[in-house]
Amino acid sequence: MSKNFYVTTPIYYVNDAPHIGHAYTTVLADVVSRYHALCGYNTYMQTGTDEHGQKIQQVATARKIDPKAHVDEYNLRFKNLWSKLEINYDNFIRTTNKDHIAYVQDRLQQLFDKGEIYTKEYSGWYSVGEERFFAEEELVNGKDPISNRDVDWISEKNYFFKMSNYQDRLIKYIDDNPDFIMPNFRKNEVLGFLRQELTDLCISRPKSRLAWGIPLPFDQDYVTYVWFDALLNYISGVDGVKHADGSSVWPATYHLIGKDILTTHCVYWTTMMMAMDIEMPKHILAHGWWLNDGAKMSKSSGTAINPIPYMDAYGVDNFRYFLIRDMVIGQDASFCDDNFFQRSNNDLANDLGNGLNRVHKQILTHFNGIIPEIKTIPGSEEIELEKISQEIIDELLELIQQMRLSQLAEDIFKIVRSVNKYLEQKAPWKLAKDENKRDELSTVLYYSAEAIRLALTMLEPIIPGKAREGLKMLGVEFEGAEGLHWGSLKPGSKIGEGQALFPRIIPPETEEEKVAKEALKNCQKLKKQQQNIHPLSKLDFKVAEILEVCEHPDADSLYLLKVNLGDEERTICSGLKNHYQPEDLKGLKVVLFANLKSSKIRGIESHGMVLAADGDNGEVILIKPDQSLKAGQQLQFGELPVVPKSQVKIKEFQKQFLVLKGGFVNCQDFDLHALDNLDKKIICDGVSEGAKVH
Ligand code: MSP
Repeated sequence: MSKNFYVTTPIYYVNDAPHIGHAYTTVLADVVSRYHALCGYNTYMQTGTDEHGQKIQQVATARKIDPKAHVDEYNLRFKNLWSKLEINYDNFIRTTNKDHIAYVQDRLQQLFDKGEIYTKEYSGWYSVGEERFFAEEELVNGKDPISNRDVDWISEKNYFFKMSNYQDRLIKYIDDNPDFIMPNFRKNEVLGFLRQELTDLCISRPKSRLAWGIPLPFDQDYVTYVWFDALLNYISGVDGVKHADGSSVWPATYHLIGKDILTTHCVYWTTMMMAMDIEMPKHILAHGWWLNDGAKMSKSSGTAINPIPYMDAYGVDNFRYFLIRDMVIGQDASFCDDNFFQRSNNDLANDLGNGLNRVHKQILTHFNGIIPEIKTIPGSEEIELEKISQEIIDELLELIQQMRLSQLAEDIFKIVRSVNKYLEQKAPWKLAKDENKRDELSTVLYYSAEAIRLALTMLEPIIPGKAREGLKMLGVEFEGAEGLHWGSLKPGSKIGEGQALFPRIIPPETEEEKVAKEALKNCQKLKKQQQNIHPLSKLDFKVAEILEVCEHPDADSLYLLKVNLGDEERTICSGLKNHYQPEDLKGLKVVLFANLKSSKIRGIESHGMVLAADGDNGEVILIKPDQSLKAGQQLQFGELPVVPKSQVKIKEFQKQFLVLKGGFVNCQDFDLHALDNLDKKIICDGVSEGAKVH
């Protein structure tokens, strides 16, 4: 079997910044390529940028610069991202490269000479966004069925590739090669498409409408349709390039694509290859879409997720791991912060990072940092740990070849979790306390270290940087295929320095959490202020006007007073009945202790207390403020701020000892008066100096 592997990504349009959808395909290509290398393959990976066509011309025009200057600048956005993502590509192709342009023109000329290209007058619905024509019946509500954009009716002479000639051959090829299009349901989708009669493919655009493209070699008034130009990148980029064993890199093992470019690859590209006698790639694999928290990402709505902030904040390997682990190839996957943090914390920080740290620490403490030997006959737990590690090594290649990378990541973590379980069972920290168990301790630590080493080796293609650092902690380098055997770890070798490989991520606060935190802070601040302020400031005294007086139905000595507080009316139970007639009270302005905690007095809720003082003969004398004050007037003690609590217990009031002093209601040398008006003090006639106010 050939041990050569060539993987491609789509070439990306340089009309905007890359998002996680682009990052995903490129990371996926890098990961499968590294896995193949790990399994001993000669590998080659190509990615690049799609730099011609209307989309690019439009952006350049909008930026008021030459398209070439635009693409020279924007392709770097991709190159820089790939370098940040540690993508090990072998070739980055740009469709504006001279070699690519020459290759496309050669191929066009050959097809033209063979009679595979002809010219005809063509009319159809043209979508600028998709850069292609649609048949009337393909439109949805009169719009382009893919991007839902407006279409224009265009009539013009154009060049056509005889795609329809290859329809039967293509169907047969797909039927004969069941894993050519992956996953299977995408193959069925293509076969479904091929049930309708295939039309020929328009491969030119008149220069009068679009100048930014590769000129047709046989007609200088036309440029090449961008897809015809772009698809050829897969072969033009490796023209003449050989693998280490001398065989040519082409054919590709995998074209990795997103589901939206299935037809262009499985129908246009395949028939183009048939017409050009190019050997078919082995597989075209379409993955699903990354959604932003379940919804389609779009640049226009600002929902396209930029991978850079995630890498900057949490590290490139956390990001790579998440992409590979969370998308099952073929299906859509949702990117959201919670999932990302969970994956990082559960798998990487807790399971792998902690597991490795425990093993490292135990070897350092109990064996002076030297990998110990197996000193006892392996028991069932050791046999189990070795077995599970071996099983994953054995299935590695198969899972990679089936592109089941999420499954593979999950399986490798089975080893990691088994190590953690084994450590819990064996508790080396306890074994270390018993000199007679020294041999058992030695065996346990060797087994744990070896299993973790294998897991790190197998994770290297996904998290290259961290896996290598982890291996260094165990005192070994990443050895590729050499390291894929149980028992490669050498007893007697020295471990490396310890470190927290994957620090736990503390998720940043959401907007709601921020608001809640701010509210809590304010609340605490207020509470603190309340604690520091004078207790009198917390009491609320207001002028109230008595509107109605009636008897309490259930208490002989109580009146029910209805009072007006300016902006509200309240009912108060008052013990004035034995001292005042209702007519003496009605219409009178009194002082109300307004924030006294409400209480039910004999079945009726009372909301405050009217202030009175003790007369010399035991009578109760109402405190009567200046009757010109308005109902609701706020009162104040001295210059103490008025910051009343919402409700105050009667005890708080009693503690303050209000008395009559110098003819005024006073407390601790502060006279009671109208707020901010020291002239309007609360006088109390007919009461002796020092009388208690209550
Ligand atoms: N230039 C063409 C491809 C030509 S290949 C010969 C193109 N470029 S693109 O920049 O628009 O898209 C590149 C790839 O990104 C496509 O595979 C597309 O499916 C993929 N993605 C775009 N949005 C995506 C997601 N939200 N999720 C995953 N991949 C997505 O098409």
